[in-house]
Amino acid sequence: MSIVLQANAVERRFPAPRGLADLLLRRPIRAVHALSGVSIAIEAGETLGVVGESGCGKSTLARCLVRLIAPDAGAVMFEGQDIATLRSSDRLRFNRAVQMVFQDPFASLNPRMTVGAALAEVLRVHNIVPDADIPARVLALLDQVQLPASAAGRYPHAFSGGQRQRIGIARALAMEPRVIIADEPVSALDVSVQAQIVNLFMELQERLGLAIVFITHDLRLVRHMAHRVAVMYLGRVVETGLTHDIFEAPRHPYTRALISAVPSLIPGQARADAVRGELPSPMAPPPGCPFHPRCPIVMPRCASDAPSLINGVSCWAAG
Ligand SMILES: Nc1ncnc2c1ncn2[C@@H]1O[C@H](COP(=O)(O)OP(=O)(O)OP(=O)(O)O)[C@@H](O)[C@H]1O
Ligand SMILES: [Mg+2]
Repeated sequence: MSIVLQANAVERRFPAPRGLADLLLRRPIRAVHALSGVSIAIEAGETLGVVGESGCGKSTLARCLVRLIAPDAGAVMFEGQDIATLRSSDRLRFNRAVQMVFQDPFASLNPRMTVGAALAEVLRVHNIVPDADIPARVLALLDQVQLPASAAGRYPHAFSGGQRQRIGIARALAMEPRVIIADEPVSALDVSVQAQIVNLFMELQERLGLAIVFITHDLRLVRHMAHRVAVMYLGRVVETGLTHDIFEAPRHPYTRALISAVPSLIPGQARADAVRGELPSPMAPPPGCPFHPRCPIVMPRCASDAPSLINGVSCWAAG
């Protein structure tokens, strides 16, 4: 297997929101530590599931991977090259090869353009196929996401949530990508529709050999579709490995807590928020291991020394 896309020790901070009191009291500007040294590798044709509680940095990582934002430190590598240094044709190739699918595709669809016109525009602007081939390619894209040809003549509002997500996927596919970064692509959908969209991702992967980064709160989806998993906590990857290993023998106490919190038979309730205690603020991440204030097996050194990710786990207690 070859690595297509890789994050190397990526760090990203944002200025923390400031209230009036901060201004009046001239408090120093603080930073939100959204990513604190994240490394992941995505291999051609595989699905990497990225899981973790709200605010742990999943979307920030996704945005770094597609170059919507730049890391403060570290690098994102595409086919071995730092994407910040890509120029001209390499840059265009990257822009096509790595596509994002969002939770709410409606927000990025032009309400006054038919679906066919929107897809045709992508194909034309990016010179994907000769103009004469555009109508046929639009129909082929709709067929790939299992929408009828008649969808081309309709406007976004005429579609259900699941159909809109199919349109979002078709638009990403129009670019003929090698990697799709899907940020909570089914979180807003009904459970029955979720399954259809997840199955579509899996079929497309098999047919097109896509690599998929699937970001979700829902561990059951990850277990169903991901080959490998990265578990994030407060801007770090705390455990990563093959899906089977992570679910059968989780080694990080955070991963164990997440998995034991999954009420596997109750659809739609598998949210990763049942770990004891509160998530610390990313403006003031705890010293040492970021999980230590909530950890059931905390040891003295955990409060001062941060473990690094070794053999797929970042924990002093994991041998
Ligand atoms: N543009 C921004 N400006 C300021 N802070 C930001 C910005 N984007 C993200 N953050 C902060 O960075 C942290 C990580 O956010 P991010 O959206 O990456 O988390 P997430 O894991 O995707 O969460 P969720 O599951 O809720 O989508 C959060 O504390 C968030 O408030
Ligand atoms: Mg997010």
